[in-house]
Amino acid sequence: MALIPLGSSPDTAETLVAPSDVGCSDGRQRLYEDLADQIDALLAGAADSTANLANAAAAIYHALPALNWAGFYLLRGLVLGPFQGKPACVRIPVGMGVCGIAAMQRQSILVPDVHAFPGHIACDPASRSELVVPLIRDGTVIGVLDLDSPVVARFDAQDQAGCEALAAVIVRHLGSVPPA
Ligand code: SME
Repeated sequence: MALIPLGSSPDTAETLVAPSDVGCSDGRQRLYEDLADQIDALLAGAADSTANLANAAAAIYHALPALNWAGFYLLRGLVLGPFQGKPACVRIPVGMGVCGIAAMQRQSILVPDVHAFPGHIACDPASRSELVVPLIRDGTVIGVLDLDSPVVARFDAQDQAGCEALAAVIVRHLGSVPPA
């Protein structure tokens, strides 16, 4: 199994990673555990929610293979938050698009093929699959973590579980007020 090394350019991910070759199960679990620890340490010293979301987006984008976008949409609305990748839609109504449906349903959504998902909002035409995980604090959705990939079926249940763990770590570092 070939994992793209940490720090490699995500822009080249499409040519380096096949849909079935984004990492073996044990390797990916270790990758997510290490990334959770890194983000926890990275965000621990900062009290600013925007700075913490920005560093979390950068850490995720550069650690996970085969991404072309990683970032946050924050309630109210949903409004674009810190991200890495190409410029994106600024506002997404709750209940619309993958992000808005995940926020409304308070559940993660795995989209193996964005072209087959009714209502998918295409910010970057290179995106072919997507994973959206709600950020939930004290029982309230405060935003979503959104990952896009140029590879069809890039994300599976293991990625969902890993990203839900990352979201829990990130939420702990967002302070007591909504970050939006
Ligand atoms: N595809 C998302 C929109 C956000 S971009 O992917 C960054 C959606 O359907 O909600």
